[in-house]
Amino acid sequence: MDKAQAKLQIDELTATLKEHNYRYYVLSEPTISDLEFDRLLKQLEYLESQFPELAHADSPTRIVGGGIVNEFETVKHRRRMLSLGNTYNETELREFDNRIRKAIGNEIEYVCELKIDGLAISLFYENGKLAQAVTRGDGVQGDDVTANVRTIRSLSTELHGNYPPEFEIRGEIFMHRKGFEKLNNERIAAGEPAYANPRNVASGSLKLKDSSEVAKRPLDITLYHLLGDNLPYKTHADCIDAARSWGLKTADTTEVCKGIDEVIRFLEKWDKKRHDLGFDTDGVVIKVNSLALQEELGYTAKVPRWAIAYKFQTESATTRLLDITYQVGRTGAITPVAELEPVFLLGTTVKRASLHNANEIERLDVRVGDLVFVEKGGEIIPKITGVDFSQRPENSLPTKYIAHCPECGTALVRKENEAQHYCPNEDGCAPQVIGKIEHFVARKALNIDSIGSEMAKTLYKQGLVKDISDLYALKTEDLLKLERMGEKSAQNIIDGIQQSKNVPFERVLFGMGIRYVGETVAKKLAQALGNIDTLMHADKETLLGIDEIGDVIAESLTSYFSEPEHQNLVEKLKAAGLQMESAAKTQTQKGSTLAGLTFVISGVFSRMSRDEAKEIIEAQGGKCSGSVSSKTDYLLAGEGMGPAKLEKATQLGVKIISEDDLMSMIGETTSASTPAEPEKPAQTTLF
Ligand code: IVH
Repeated sequence: MDKAQAKLQIDELTATLKEHNYRYYVLSEPTISDLEFDRLLKQLEYLESQFPELAHADSPTRIVGGGIVNEFETVKHRRRMLSLGNTYNETELREFDNRIRKAIGNEIEYVCELKIDGLAISLFYENGKLAQAVTRGDGVQGDDVTANVRTIRSLSTELHGNYPPEFEIRGEIFMHRKGFEKLNNERIAAGEPAYANPRNVASGSLKLKDSSEVAKRPLDITLYHLLGDNLPYKTHADCIDAARSWGLKTADTTEVCKGIDEVIRFLEKWDKKRHDLGFDTDGVVIKVNSLALQEELGYTAKVPRWAIAYKFQTESATTRLLDITYQVGRTGAITPVAELEPVFLLGTTVKRASLHNANEIERLDVRVGDLVFVEKGGEIIPKITGVDFSQRPENSLPTKYIAHCPECGTALVRKENEAQHYCPNEDGCAPQVIGKIEHFVARKALNIDSIGSEMAKTLYKQGLVKDISDLYALKTEDLLKLERMGEKSAQNIIDGIQQSKNVPFERVLFGMGIRYVGETVAKKLAQALGNIDTLMHADKETLLGIDEIGDVIAESLTSYFSEPEHQNLVEKLKAAGLQMESAAKTQTQKGSTLAGLTFVISGVFSRMSRDEAKEIIEAQGGKCSGSVSSKTDYLLAGEGMGPAKLEKATQLGVKIISEDDLMSMIGETTSASTPAEPEKPAQTTLF
């Protein structure tokens, strides 16, 4: 291919991918499957590697992990970034309205916006392109975090429509609770300690040095304050509508309210509804809508006179700390847990709260017997925010962190720069071994769904399974000796174990539960090295040469495989007939039964997960799309399918099929299989 052709293709692919990013992240209406997106992205990646000089500065390939290493430059804000005054009740809010009406005269039109708990950012656009993103800092100057902000999928870096040549827009960067939980589950599955709350992760993410790391964090943005010279808008609401029309993400919960009574109704509505939102909000921001009136009202030294924040009450309570217990996780990480006198908070009774680690105990100076403040904000897990020192019993002694594992008595270790203590007895400490068995049988690993948490515990406690390889030596007779075990259940377990021998190598590797080896890392290792022997003998340099593998993971792998017990375990797993070689090399050609057909998957299925359905369709050459359109051939309908999808499919005459129909289409007759067990979590959590 010559350079001119390459340029055409690169330009076209860049534009197409940006459009799909916009559809996916801003409009939430994707028109192509993830697979198709990845295919286009790979194509662009390849062309850019051949002609690096033709790559766009804001290419979607850079956004998903360009590996730019950031040094943050401090820059001065074009206009000061002010904060807001706070109110905590209706009386204070009415006083704010009185002050404004006194200055202006009439009833005021306000705009109410949810106050998202994230971190403030200022964006500067030049000729429709994102030129700079700066954190709030001290309000006068902040850090230039442009490269990191570019990785946020819902942020349009290139605008469309009728935008002013230069403007600044401010907003909040935050993380949805679901994304936060997913990130935490991945960390837990890879044996790393969990993060405390979405806000901290969001703000920590922006300060990461490597943008490709930031790209992995599910960050989102909402924009709420447009600034510029000679803008043609009369109201704040017009500014926000205009920004939305240029492709920028703004809140869809915002309302214009006539007078303070309407504002109060908005507050009351969201005080109740906020818990149903997918993200944390700590209040409402109330702004005078007219820009002329905003100007007339002006600013105090610190805050605008035309806007104020109303803070929802965080639910908090005081209770007694009865004890501090210590939990041992699958990787041996120790988590201290506050055992509390039960207290009612936000609709549930709270008995326990995580104290995270020894540093947190020290920071709070919390002691058994103390009266403590417990809070539950937007977050699900309650936290201890402080101690009522005036009530501290006289004989109280500082908390002494345990030195030995509460389960097996082994001396605990704490690595340099790590907050967590660990029990190093990974193959002999009961919760670690049971945790490893649970992790091994989990859906995303070996998927032996006939073994749940309780069964994993029983198998270990009865001495039948001491490590994961023992599962493959189990016989029906062994299981039948267990209490309340029937023939059918025993057979199900044995069948499940048998079937797990077909699970691909990358999932076996993930299932082995090596610290820091989560799903993605396992995939990368399997792809790069092909089989367990090569991996086991790989030195640090070899490992560091693999995409995504850094020092910490390489170290964890070499240390894991240097242990004779682990080498032994690998031999036993091999002998049991597990897949210890990457399927990529032996993979057969894709089928083509569904070639040219586009499917939309909706609802829940009894025989397969949505991901599995997608895999089945794609393995036979079919395509999956997120929304029903005239291009859709089939709607694969499960239980609880969205009514809008059904209606659209009916309107367009799209064929609606069941999972059984799909299986017959690909020539697999439906067997009278046992209905799938409800999905079990890959990891049992603390609360
Ligand atoms: S307006 C001069 N609008 O809350 C106007 N701020 O407590 C200043 N925030 O620093 C900001 N949602 O980080 C505004 N819809 C919203 C907001 C919002 C969240 C944050 C922002 C600000 C802080 C003030």
